[in-house]
Amino acid sequence: MKRIFSGAQPTGNVHLGNYLGALRNWVALQREYESFFCIVNLHAITFPQDPKVLAAKTRELARIYLAVGIDPNVSTVFVQSDVAEHTELTWLLNCVARMSELERMTQFKEKARKQQENVGVGVFDYPVLMASDILLYQTDLVPVGEDQKQHLELTRDLAIRFNRDYGQTFAVPEPFIPKIGARIMSLADPAKKMSKSDEESEAGCIMLLDDVDAVRRKFKRAVTDSGTEIRFDESRPAINNLLTIYHLLNDRSAEEIEDHFNGQGYAKLKGELAEVTIEFLKPIQERVRSIDDDKLDAILRQGAEKAEAIARVTLNHAKRNMGLIGARK
Ligand code: AMP
Ligand code: TRP
Repeated sequence: MKRIFSGAQPTGNVHLGNYLGALRNWVALQREYESFFCIVNLHAITFPQDPKVLAAKTRELARIYLAVGIDPNVSTVFVQSDVAEHTELTWLLNCVARMSELERMTQFKEKARKQQENVGVGVFDYPVLMASDILLYQTDLVPVGEDQKQHLELTRDLAIRFNRDYGQTFAVPEPFIPKIGARIMSLADPAKKMSKSDEESEAGCIMLLDDVDAVRRKFKRAVTDSGTEIRFDESRPAINNLLTIYHLLNDRSAEEIEDHFNGQGYAKLKGELAEVTIEFLKPIQERVRSIDDDKLDAILRQGAEKAEAIARVTLNHAKRNMGLIGARK
């Protein structure tokens, strides 16, 4: 069976963009692949985090993975810092990666621009840790949103270079980026992606744990385009984004949706979209609340054990190929 690996950071709140761009596909693919879903708390600390909040958010994200439909009986769910191999492989790959290729990462450039000379070393090295996550599991496919495409290309480059210089060690993974939903835009500013880190854009971001009032309010205030027609049209990004969300959440075809809203106004679309979203979120929120703490602990413990056993084999192989094992007779 081929393998998939993916992860999300336990910072801020999980939003519809995360779900439609990534989590939804993890759920859809988990039975076709041997699947590993990680809560990447080591990526989260590339920015200062309150330790108590980080620990709570890590558990909350694990609950959300399960609540959206990740089945711990078929998929391995674990916390990144529980498997030390991730950090160890990062060092080996640091010695293969080049400054110039990390400097080209648009996410790094964006963060560096905001923080200038105070930008952390961890922010710079973030894509190498991500490559380690993926390569440790001999991953074939990585289901992510559009914003991770460049990091995936770097991961592939590092795997190919390592294999060339030290002998076959890593599978070279492919990205899985959905055709629709890979880049859900902010409801407040359709030129920006929906994002949990951007505090000023809270109003444009539907969180999976938002209550009914918040969902109605955010859709009601969503920015629209000029014109009145309700059609899928990339040149009208606000309406296109609302229709994309509608399409993915209730599985109606684009044609059906356009017919349904033919001659109607934006208020009708926003109102219906809010109700569709509320219905979609309700069972997820109920499941998040109902997952027992001890059960969650057991899932994460078993997940880490299973992940570690696989990660160890790859790490040892990489160390042996680099001459790091076998120096002592
Ligand atoms: P993060 O929360 O940044 O760790 O992201 C988790 C996953 O959600 C990654 O695969 C991202 O590519 C995806 N993602 C984040 N924001 C969006 C968005 N606005 N639209 C689609 N996918 C997204
Ligand atoms: N960098 C990813 C993001 O912010 C999260 C991530 C870390 C990840 N390690 C990964 C995604 C490995 C896929 C595979 O969205």
